[in-house]
Amino acid sequence: MMSTAKVILALKNVDVFYGQVQALFGITLDVKQSEIVSIIGSNGAGKTTTMRSISGLHGAHGGQIMFEGEDITKQKSHVLVKKGIIYVPEGRLVFADMSVQDNLEMGAFSKDYSRKELLAHLEEQFALFPRLKERRPQLAGSLSGGEQQMLAIARGLMSDPKLIMFDEPSLGLAPVIVDEMFDTIVRINKDRRVTVLLVEQNAYMALSISNRAYVLENGVIKASGESSNLMESDDIRKSYLGG
Ligand SMILES: Nc1ncnc2c1ncn2[C@@H]1O[C@H](COP(=O)(O)OP(=O)(O)O)[C@@H](O)[C@H]1O
Ligand SMILES: [Mg+2]
Repeated sequence: MMSTAKVILALKNVDVFYGQVQALFGITLDVKQSEIVSIIGSNGAGKTTTMRSISGLHGAHGGQIMFEGEDITKQKSHVLVKKGIIYVPEGRLVFADMSVQDNLEMGAFSKDYSRKELLAHLEEQFALFPRLKERRPQLAGSLSGGEQQMLAIARGLMSDPKLIMFDEPSLGLAPVIVDEMFDTIVRINKDRRVTVLLVEQNAYMALSISNRAYVLENGVIKASGESSNLMESDDIRKSYLGG
């Protein structure tokens, strides 16, 4: 079934530079509809750069990025949000001085929802994250780290994305919250039917919940395949799973 699913996102030979310094070298990868695909790799490998270039925050200097069959290589990020690509950046960037509810409403900024549609979307997020409902009038800056991460994700879901990209969602969270976070990502994929691209240094967790994975090293894809196969590979175990 997985092999017949249509490709929603495809990168072909993508090169990205910061000034004179090349960060990505000919990245080729694809994500099929309804998949969870992870990108694993050490610090500095180029994982965030890959997501920033897909989401239009940092332009690719070579190659092509296709979304639903359309060339989006030169598209701006606000256009890509409208097309259904949401990027949840590292570091749970919420608006600290705004309430939980206002943060969520900001997530619907690119959509022309009626008041009724907006409320329905809020209720959807509160069903997924009941703790956000209890805290809806509270300032986002006063939430715990885990709650802020949930809010950042819920805000992304407000615009009904087709593809959601998570950048290190487990970073800095307590172990019990990390498990909850990965469960949530699986539910977003299975129940909401949102395709997921996941970047994680926690390679074990990423491989556990994803269908397929790419291994990025120094801006180059070093390996790829079914996550279960990668988890069995001696090289991957040694380099990323602690032996
Ligand atoms: N804003 C930037 N300016 C210059 N170099 C950068 C910038 N952001 C990232 N880099 C460099 O690009 C490479 C990839 O970084 P990044 O994509 O953040 O890796 P990862 O997310 O895998 O840790 C690194 O060598 C990093 O130093
Ligand atoms: Mg990063």
